[in-house]
Amino acid sequence: MIQVDCPRRIAHFSAMRVVTSISAMQRFVKQWRHRGVRIGFVPTMGYLHAGHLSLVRAARRRVGKEGKVVVSIYVNPTQFGPTEDLSRYPRDLKRDLKLCRAEGVDSVFVPSDTEIYPGRAEGRYSTYVVEEKLSQSMEGASRPTHFRGVTTVVAKLFNLVQPDVAVFGAKDWQQAALVKRMVADLNFPLQIIVAPTVRELDGLALSSRNRYLAPEQRAQATILHRTIQRARAAVKRQPQSAVKLKTDLKKFITTAPLARLDYVEFFHPDTLQPAATVARGTHLALAVFFGPTRLIDNGRL
Ligand code: PAJ
Repeated sequence: MIQVDCPRRIAHFSAMRVVTSISAMQRFVKQWRHRGVRIGFVPTMGYLHAGHLSLVRAARRRVGKEGKVVVSIYVNPTQFGPTEDLSRYPRDLKRDLKLCRAEGVDSVFVPSDTEIYPGRAEGRYSTYVVEEKLSQSMEGASRPTHFRGVTTVVAKLFNLVQPDVAVFGAKDWQQAALVKRMVADLNFPLQIIVAPTVRELDGLALSSRNRYLAPEQRAQATILHRTIQRARAAVKRQPQSAVKLKTDLKKFITTAPLARLDYVEFFHPDTLQPAATVARGTHLALAVFFGPTRLIDNGRL
């Protein structure tokens, strides 16, 4: 018997374009915009997992089947610190393209470093986008040049893809907050959607970095999610002093002996201002090392 796939899938399957040059991407975008086609955009660093794919589906829902969904895959060097994992960041373009095809993505933008940062290797690239407030705490405090790299590359990608909507994951809450602020401050004509964190069955947030974990580290990595749940349970009983709750959570994290806490913070979900009293609606974010691998998670309490 002949297996007949649904027509929409076939249409997308045959139509997916892999675009490596900026000029080709700009040509497509120009044609789409000229025809009034809506563009949904999902920026990624590749090594795609179900979390990324949930963003692709959210983008599709927003632009409809007449719209175009663009995914970018670019391991952005400017958001990695000098001692971070840029060179060993996992890559598997073939698999990523297969996953994008199966999701009905219209175009995958895979630019090279020389396309995105012309002359950077020779010291001739010198323009960056810097957010000065929301980028100072948590991830920004632990990784001082990280957000400058993120806002710069995201601004460049927005300029190139000219999306109507762009989808980011709640997994990187601070990143999404910063991007929203940048879009408001610099008048990018687009809407930012923040999609929920996709987790493994045991609560570990999906991340490309999870593959670095040894089996014992992987087993203990649920401590991030369990810490959020513990804080949630405490706050459900009554509002808590941030100092006291933090002490309790730090102690709780030591029950995973392979975990080394980087930070745990309570803050307002939009302003990212630290909270002195932790109540329902306060947000918690934490970063934990397992050996050299650094995992982050967050949640609303
Ligand atoms: P990357 O880590 O590849 O993540 C791409 C997008 O997927 C981000 O918006 C991130 O929040 C989202 N994401 C990751 N894990 C998720 C999960 N478990 N559930 C839901 N969404 C998840 O974040 C970046 O790349 C880069 O900083 C980038 C924005 C592409 C700029 O270089």
